Amino acid sequence: MPLLKLLHFVGLLCWCGTLLYLPALVAAGTRRNDPLFYRDHAHLTRMVFNLIATPAALIAIGSGTALFLRDGIMAGWLIVKLSTVAGMVLCHALCGVLVLRVERSPELSVSIRCRFLGLVTATFITATLWLVLAKPF
Ligand code: HEM
Repeated sequence: MPLLKLLHFVGLLCWCGTLLYLPALVAAGTRRNDPLFYRDHAHLTRMVFNLIATPAALIAIGSGTALFLRDGIMAGWLIVKLSTVAGMVLCHALCGVLVLRVERSPELSVSIRCRFLGLVTATFITATLWLVLAKPF
């Protein structure tokens, strides 16, 4: 398998995995009566976001752009795929907002927002994968 595509797969596997995991991780860290738990949990959540999710997103997007430039693909599915990837980037940013909010006020109930974000993220990931694998137009 060409190395650039392999890099694209590694990046998107880690990115999609952490994007689905982060809302559950944030929700699991709220509404406990233990300040030490809050501190450790906030540290873990921030680490997953900063050290895995964000670099993986940059690798997935960077290698995808390099594939696109190298092969000169200009198909309809790729344009629509870029829109669904933009949706994933938006979900990534919203995850960051949730991480910060829970860090500032851990007693906040954010589980509904986390569930909704997880659902929207899963929809964008499924749509992206379908577009790139089915190449419908
Ligand atoms: C700006 C972001 C991205 C760009 C520009 C991009 C671009 C590309 C390009 C040009 C290819 C090669 C297609 C081919 O050879 O037929 C590709 C392959 C692929 N991309 Fe992306 N991609 C991006 C993000 C993503 C994301 C976020 C996902 C998953 C959620 C994804 C999933 C895939 C898959 C599964 C393939 C393999 C398709 C195949 O070999 O049939 N890509 N991408």
